[in-house]
Formats: sequence, C-alpha cells, structure tokens
Amino acid sequence: MTTVGKNIEIAAAILSDNELVAIPTETVYGLAGNALSEAAVVKIYSAKDRPSFNPLIIHVPTVEAIKDYAELDSISQQLADAFMPGPFTLLLPKKSIIPDLVTAGSSKVAVRIPRHPLALRLLHKLNFPLAAPSANPFGYVSPTNARHVLDGLNNRVDYILDGGPCEVGVESTIAEVEDGKIILHRLGAVTAEEMEAVTGLKVVRKTQETKVDTPGQLKSHYATKTPLYLGDIPMLLKEYAHKHVATISFCKSYEGLVSGHQYILSPKCDVNEAAQHLFSVMRSIDEYSFDLIIAERFPDKGLGRAINDRLERAQALHK
Ligand code: TXA
Ligand code: MG
Repeated sequence: MTTVGKNIEIAAAILSDNELVAIPTETVYGLAGNALSEAAVVKIYSAKDRPSFNPLIIHVPTVEAIKDYAELDSISQQLADAFMPGPFTLLLPKKSIIPDLVTAGSSKVAVRIPRHPLALRLLHKLNFPLAAPSANPFGYVSPTNARHVLDGLNNRVDYILDGGPCEVGVESTIAEVEDGKIILHRLGAVTAEEMEAVTGLKVVRKTQETKVDTPGQLKSHYATKTPLYLGDIPMLLKEYAHKHVATISFCKSYEGLVSGHQYILSPKCDVNEAAQHLFSVMRSIDEYSFDLIIAERFPDKGLGRAINDRLERAQALHK
C-alpha cells in the first residue's frame, strides 16, 4: 500500500529501513532510497522497471557533503557554489563508499542538492545520501506532483512525500567538467550561458553520437503513449486533418481547433511557466483517446530549450 502525506519523520524512518519514498524536488518527483544500501538501490530499479545499466543521481544536503561521496575539483566546486541547491547535477569521480550499482559500474557519480524545502529538510535529517531517479515507470513522462507518482507507482513505493506541484517542472541540468571544458549532458533550468559566466569555460553539448555512454539519454525517455509530432501546428493540422488531434503550444491559440483539444502552456508567454505545465499536460492528453499530439517548438532560450529537448525525445520514440 502506498500512502501520501507530508510527514518527514515517517519518510526518514522508511528510508532508514532501506525502503522507498517518493520525494518532491523543484524539478520533478524522485523515487528515493538509501544510496549506500545495495538492497535499497535494487528496489529502486525494480519499482521503476528500469534497466540497471542506467545510473542514478544521488541527493545530498550540502556542498560539503558532496566530498564524502565524490572528488570535487575546483571548477566543479565553483559550479556547485553557484547552482546548488538547485536544478543542477554534477558528474564527479566517485568515492568507493558509493555502490557500483548506483553508477551502473561507471567511475563517475551524478550528485545533486535539490532546493525544495521538504527534500532539503529530509536530507539534513538522514545520515546517508538518497539515490533517486524520477519517480515514474521507466520511459514514461516524469511526475511533477504527488498524483502523477501515485498513477505510475501505486503499491511500488511505501510513502509519497507530498510537496505540491514542482516549481521547475523539467529534470535538472547535468554537467561534467572535463579537460578544461564543461560537458552538458542534459538540458535543464541552469543554462550553458550561466555556467560559462560563472567559470569562464566553454560549455559543449553532448552530441547524439557520443550519447551512447549516457544511457539515461535513451530515446524512449519522456515519451507519451499518444504519438507526438513536433513542428508547425497549422501545417501539421492540415496534414493530419482526418485525425483526432491535441495540440501543445506556447502561448498562442490556433483557429479551427476545439478549445478542449488545445493545450496552451503559458498564456502570458513565459517559458518558465510553460515548463511547469509541460509534463502535466502530456499526461492529461494521454488520459484521452487522441490519435496524435502536435506540439510546436518553443523559444530557443532558457527552459524553452529544455522543453524542445523533451519534446524531441517524445517524438523520437514514435518515429
Ligand atoms: O531533476 C532530476 O535530476 C531528477 C530529480 C528526481 O532529482 N532526477 C532525474 O533522474 O531526472 P533520472 O534517473 O530520471 O535521470 C538521471 C540521468 C539519467 O539520464 C542518467 O543516465 C544520468 O542522469 N546519469 C546518472 N548517473 C550518471 C553517471 N554516473 N554517468 C552518466 N550519466 C548518469
Ligand atoms: Mg527519468
């Protein structure tokens, strides 16, 4: 049985027993377990039906605590000081206390300090870090509220710590300092420009070909069950005129569409607000029997870039 509540003591007790708790973070909800316990980590992979070659992010309360589990070089330290707590994950050489199962055998571990107040209070209470992938069955859209977690993982997690809807709405930026540059593994709320401003180093986007060694970047991530196409909405609407279509747009409404079939992510044209709503809308559309989702490209700045990345991945699965 899964229960939902706001009690940190209960969450801490369950986690100390090496059982699982879904936790709120400002990006998406995570499915958390004791990162130092192989038994707990096995439960995470199995609850998600996630292949164990796909490594997990560990969550800690402070920048100081990172050093217990990983080597923090001076540039990574600069990035940590600037962006943690926050929607930002660093890949760092791991210390041996972190089980290989957490990193899927890699010598690097992904570390994050979430800034959601409930998550931070919980992490401060525990004397171990939390391994936590997004709290959704493998391959599906990440959860941004407690209801989403329950929909996907009912009876697969003991407790859902309800911290309300996520403030950012898409997963954290993942970065790695290597050979005097910064490799950007996943787009999120912390942008390449911000990292360049803090460090003076060049940020390089990890390309499609080299993505093979970041297994979490598998194409099947973030996908809706309903096929999704990305492009010009009026043109695609013409092409699929005979289909039962839902659209996802930034702030404009389009003519010739029933209003209940149009999902506008931010009527005031704010990419941050759009990101907050993206996964909820993708999930809502999946609850109806649409043949197709047609989404447009978002502005190529800030979280707009992360939204485009998630929509491209959702589309890739259906191509
Ligand atoms: O915002 C987030 O980061 C959320 C919240 C819950 O913290 N977590 C999250 O976890 O999105 P997950 O497991 O859904 O995505 C983690 C990504 C995956 O693409 C995984 O492959 C990559 O991080 N990753 C984790 N550890 C890694 C490692 N050691 N080397 C390379 N990639 C790694
Ligand atoms: Mg995920």
